[in-house]
Amino acid sequence: MIQFEAVHKRFPNGTTAVHDLTLDMPEGGVTVFVGSSGCGKTTSLRMINRMVDPTSGTIRVGGRDVLEQDAADLRRSIGYVIQQAGLFPHRTVLDNIATVPLLLGWRRRKARAAAGELLERVGLAPELGRRYPHQLSGGQQQRVGVARALAADPPVLLMDEPFGAVDPVVRTQLQDELLRLQKELSKTIVFVTHDIDEAVRLGDRIAVFRTGGHLVQCAAPQELLARPADDFVADFLGAERGLKLLSLTPLAGVPQAPAPDGGPWELVLDEARRPVHWRDRDSGAEAPARALRDGDSLLSALNESVASPAGLVVRVDADGVLTGVSSRDDIHGRAGVAHAEALAGTKGLAG
Ligand SMILES: Nc1ncnc2c1ncn2[C@@H]1O[C@H](COP(=O)(O)OP(=O)(O)O)[C@@H](O)[C@H]1O
Ligand SMILES: [Mg+2]
Repeated sequence: MIQFEAVHKRFPNGTTAVHDLTLDMPEGGVTVFVGSSGCGKTTSLRMINRMVDPTSGTIRVGGRDVLEQDAADLRRSIGYVIQQAGLFPHRTVLDNIATVPLLLGWRRRKARAAAGELLERVGLAPELGRRYPHQLSGGQQQRVGVARALAADPPVLLMDEPFGAVDPVVRTQLQDELLRLQKELSKTIVFVTHDIDEAVRLGDRIAVFRTGGHLVQCAAPQELLARPADDFVADFLGAERGLKLLSLTPLAGVPQAPAPDGGPWELVLDEARRPVHWRDRDSGAEAPARALRDGDSLLSALNESVASPAGLVVRVDADGVLTGVSSRDDIHGRAGVAHAEALAGTKGLAG
């Protein structure tokens, strides 16, 4: 758990970067700081590992006031990932990853072995370990940056726009990787971005900042999207916030019925009762049937209900076996319920 209590940061030149920030970040969850450039996100992040010290107020990590800890020790106990990865250009990838363990006094062999495992963990081939950073793509460098931050297995990971400099496709891959890693590792992550879509994808909680270092709202993504605190947050979330909310709501609660026996379209199954395609009973024409699982989003279900010739969404279990079909009306109905639930604040308050 990371706690900010009435934290203020005023730089010597008179700039107030962070204004009276009080905020709790749950252990084992991802808290995203989001807001436009210059609103104090980086300064807030860097106060956690004492790269910047607050002018007043208290910051606690795991219950301990950071100002009572040695700054260098604290920094080594907290992973830190920045844009452009910040790798050492003259060290191999493996030695970059092993940086903190070596500082902590691990034997070189053990540090290298751990680095090799991490390389795999972040989705990179072992042979990349012998290369130098400039011999990697931007996306690969970011993965090395994440591996390096994880090397000493710190409970807390600070990430400052780590995926800001890579193209959108690689960025999505890196976000997926981070979500996968986080499922395994359950670190307490503070992630800075100015991209609201990235915040919604990654955050268990999202803290929206406004210029002058003011925290405007901190909430679970569903709650934020359903109930922005004011016009500033609503504007920031953008016109498609209803769609974003649907992208966060799983299909699971939508009623299902057996696939239709009659009607123009027949759902063709294989021997294992896995959907193959829709078939026009008259002409024999085929149309794709993209099967969705309970964990897929209402947004993908709505898209599929529009694409599906019968207006029905095919549902399958984890093995891809047909469980039933859902109508567009039922999906719309569930979307309305999800919105009401998010408004009531009963959903997604992940801890
Ligand atoms: N070392 C510094 N000295 C003076 N002003 C600073 C310093 N670092 C940041 N600032 C100012 O503090 C404000 C917040 O900066 P920052 O935390 O980097 O914002 P963000 O990460 O949201 O873009 C900005 O106005 C910035 O110019
Ligand atoms: Mg910044």
